Amino acid sequence: MKILVTGTGGREHALAWACAKDDKVTTVFVAKGNAGTAHEPKLCNVDLDISDHKAVIDFCQKEEIAFVVVGAEAPLVAGITDDLTKAGIKVWGCSKYCSQLEGSKAFAKEFMQAINVPTAFYQVFTQTDGAKAFVKEKGTPIVIKADGLAAGKGVIVAMTETEAFAAIDDMLSGNKFGEAGSRVVIEEFLAGEEASFICMIDGDNILPMATSQDHKRIFEGDKGANTGGMGAYSPAPVVTADVHDKVIERVIRPVVDEMKRRGTPYTGFLYAGLMIDDNADPYVIEFNCRFGDPETQPIMMRLKSSLVDLILAGLDGHLPKTADWHDDVALGIVLASRGYPDSSSSNDVITGLPQVGSVEKVKVFHAGTKQGDNGQILTNGGRVLCVTALGKDVAEAQARALQACGTIAFDGIQYRRDIGWRAIGR
Ligand code: AMP
Ligand code: GLY
Repeated sequence: MKILVTGTGGREHALAWACAKDDKVTTVFVAKGNAGTAHEPKLCNVDLDISDHKAVIDFCQKEEIAFVVVGAEAPLVAGITDDLTKAGIKVWGCSKYCSQLEGSKAFAKEFMQAINVPTAFYQVFTQTDGAKAFVKEKGTPIVIKADGLAAGKGVIVAMTETEAFAAIDDMLSGNKFGEAGSRVVIEEFLAGEEASFICMIDGDNILPMATSQDHKRIFEGDKGANTGGMGAYSPAPVVTADVHDKVIERVIRPVVDEMKRRGTPYTGFLYAGLMIDDNADPYVIEFNCRFGDPETQPIMMRLKSSLVDLILAGLDGHLPKTADWHDDVALGIVLASRGYPDSSSSNDVITGLPQVGSVEKVKVFHAGTKQGDNGQILTNGGRVLCVTALGKDVAEAQARALQACGTIAFDGIQYRRDIGWRAIGR
């Protein structure tokens, strides 16, 4: 069986690696992949432009691809699932309509409001005057978000009015996020602890993945700018059995039922970014229509079931209710390049990868890497690697991952040494 995974990041390396573990699978193509997927057994990078749906269809037909796993959100928003499905190709990923849950924060907010999913109070603005008046009325802290896709970076949690006004000016007049920022969502600040709740959905059945928590800020202590994610671990202790039940009942089930009712059933991964308040009540911060990055890396390390079998069952409308997970905790630390998240640096030589490659209970997933001359591996973007380790608890997994991180070097390397601190502190 041959599979195609689309994308170039750490999430895609982990998804492709998990698919390749299944004996039925002969090849997992990754379009376009990175230096990690280039070296992984059974994985094969392919230079395919995934925005060219016709080319993807031709490739899938020629290679007799069993199904396509869409890694990142942009192809879903561009309707890759709709186009490939029409051509008879199976895709694990939601339709263009459903992808609006991630592609438009305004759509997601209206959707949640229509079905009473708990989320922060909000309003949408296209003009700076109205936006600023709203901030004055509500006070701070307050959260300013670019409406469209901005790779996790279009969100400013403003502690002061000055910061809020600057964010509004940047997005609406300064064009900082281009078209994505031509509308802003301004919402109430939610206090609590965050968790990532990711499920597989087959239109009706819900299979929750192991829970996880991501660290979105660039600096230790969860300070500084928002990034795509600097590290993650699974499971997340904040998601107790009680919270888990509430999330299914108040968030996931209503979304799945509403999409079905609208005649556009949701198929694929669905990610609810949650804030859990002091009363253990969950509020949705955002939806993503894909797996998380870096949450995928620790979650896939814990998955004992065959991801391929789960996807095949999902495509068939027979998702099981549970999957098998290793009891160990998994924790991933992102190694980022100089300047991230504002900018990034490329072409720096990465050393230490072969040494870490043989360490037990450690797996290095690649993201922004590429092959250089003479077998060297070079940096190629903001988030470069995700060093992921298993351990009997969060502290052990963190210590093991940190030790491996210490072996890897490249010019301008930056990473957080405190991933998992909330869980360790419990
Ligand atoms: P988002 O891209 O919407 O997930 O937002 C990125 C990050 O900003 C989240 O992971 C939170 O840390 C923070 N954030 C977003 N919305 C809120 C909110 N309403 N209250 C508090 N923090 C938020
Ligand atoms: N790690 C956050 C995300 O994938 O959106």
